Amino acid sequence: MQNKTIDIICHRRSIRSYQSTALTTEQIESLVQAAQSAPSSNFLQCATIIRITDSKNRAKLAHYAGDQEYILQAPEFWVFCADFNRHFQIAPTIPLEKAEQLLVGCIDTALMAQNTVIAAESLGLGTVYIGGLRNNIEKVTQLLALPKYVLPLFGLCIGYPDQNPDRKPRLPKELVFFENHYQPINHQLLAQYDTQMRQYYDHRLTNQKTNGWSDKIVEKIIKGQRDFILNYLHKQGWITK
Ligand SMILES: Cc1cc2nc3c(=O)[nH]c(=O)nc-3n(C[C@H](O)[C@H](O)[C@H](O)COP(=O)(O)O)c2cc1C
Repeated sequence: MQNKTIDIICHRRSIRSYQSTALTTEQIESLVQAAQSAPSSNFLQCATIIRITDSKNRAKLAHYAGDQEYILQAPEFWVFCADFNRHFQIAPTIPLEKAEQLLVGCIDTALMAQNTVIAAESLGLGTVYIGGLRNNIEKVTQLLALPKYVLPLFGLCIGYPDQNPDRKPRLPKELVFFENHYQPINHQLLAQYDTQMRQYYDHRLTNQKTNGWSDKIVEKIIKGQRDFILNYLHKQGWITK
């Protein structure tokens, strides 16, 4: 079944080249309203968005995220943070160091961010998440003056697309949607998907690759390890108990 909302969700692709047209105040207000309308665990509302309007700070963030150029180019760049500092200010004695707080904070923040993404798409805008900010999470924290219990999870570039990339094929639904119990991987379906991904990478105009999906997951997971994150989390007050 298709409708306008499902079409918007299913046609979204990450956008890595933007027109210079600025968003209107009204558009920005609508995106924030959509973000804040996301569900929230126990209604704790433990996520915060920081809109980066200072161009020098934007340039620093782009550098911290591995010099991803579209961070400089996009008319809007927002940083999404899991945030229990508000709760800490309201009630300084509440325990906030449990692993559960980290999960709740990350879940709320991701839901808020994806609401923003879908709302942006509905306005004809494009977006790309920037997890690369966590490469230099300490520097990001300093630059944005983030206090204890605030965790910058990712940035989001927003703007009118200046490219029309193909949609990236997803895993066959049989590998991700199970009934009643977990299923072992179906290697035949996986091999078909790897072939499909090889064709996708081969045909796309930018960043062509020869690999499929499964033959690169080890490399990708190792690349994304960021071993310093646990120490950082402890310093920021997260999961110390
Ligand atoms: C939390 C998160 C962080 C991401 N970080 C980056 C990033 O730093 N740079 C980038 O170019 N894309 C980033 N992406 C985009 C993914 O690469 C992209 O969503 C994925 O390859 C699927 O492609 P699609 O969004 O076009 O469907 C990120 C996505 C998520 C969800």
